[in-house]
Amino acid sequence: MAELEGWQWSDYDVLTSTNDKAKEQSNLATKPLVISAICQTKGRGRRGRTWVSKEGNLFFSQLLSFPMPLSDLVFISSLSVAKAILEIAPQLAVKIKWPNDVLIDGKKVCGILLETGENATAIIGIGINLRQSPSADDILYPTTALGDLGVEISRDKFLKIYLQHFNYWTDIRLKQSFEPIRSAWLELAAFLDEKITVNCTAKNISGIFKGIDEQGLLLLKQEEKIIYIAAGDVFA
Ligand code: BTN
Repeated sequence: MAELEGWQWSDYDVLTSTNDKAKEQSNLATKPLVISAICQTKGRGRRGRTWVSKEGNLFFSQLLSFPMPLSDLVFISSLSVAKAILEIAPQLAVKIKWPNDVLIDGKKVCGILLETGENATAIIGIGINLRQSPSADDILYPTTALGDLGVEISRDKFLKIYLQHFNYWTDIRLKQSFEPIRSAWLELAAFLDEKITVNCTAKNISGIFKGIDEQGLLLLKQEEKIIYIAAGDVFA
């Protein structure tokens, strides 16, 4: 096990899913862990979907105790991925699609799956297309990869930069409040003040995206009323 930016880090050749491994360890872990894998055979996405895990991409999970609402981690992690990409390649048009998809030029480059483990732990599972993007047949939303955009970065280097940002924003959350995170997240939010459709389990709801509230709920304006949405997939 190595140490990376204050995290105990294990990198595996093959796992079913880094979230599975993190869950397995959640009984035993005494320190925050990062578990990564070169290859995932059963990567999971949000809402029961598969995460197509292409060779050369980065798959990892953070296992941590969280003295804050789990929903705050949704925004801290997506903000940290977006900031890491901008540190590596400031020229890229990076946005975050609610709640936690990171987009470049409107195409998905990163997905995040939050789960809970044993002993009140949180598992933040992150997949980043460093080298390859899954083909359009495999996925719900157009995708891109840093490699497609001429940006070469190793898995280790990306992880290190990401963890620096994650540590920074977590520290802000713990010493201050969710508000600085909400406002930094909103600066990078995709489709702000634009018409969107949110696919919630059984139905689609359309309106103007007006940002997020202090709990991270999506604010959707329909005529004169605001609807608060807790979960769903956003489409422009
Ligand atoms: C989504 O956009 O639907 C979330 C995708 C999350 C994928 C990552 S890859 C590392 C970790 N292990 C998994 O099985 N899923 C997450």
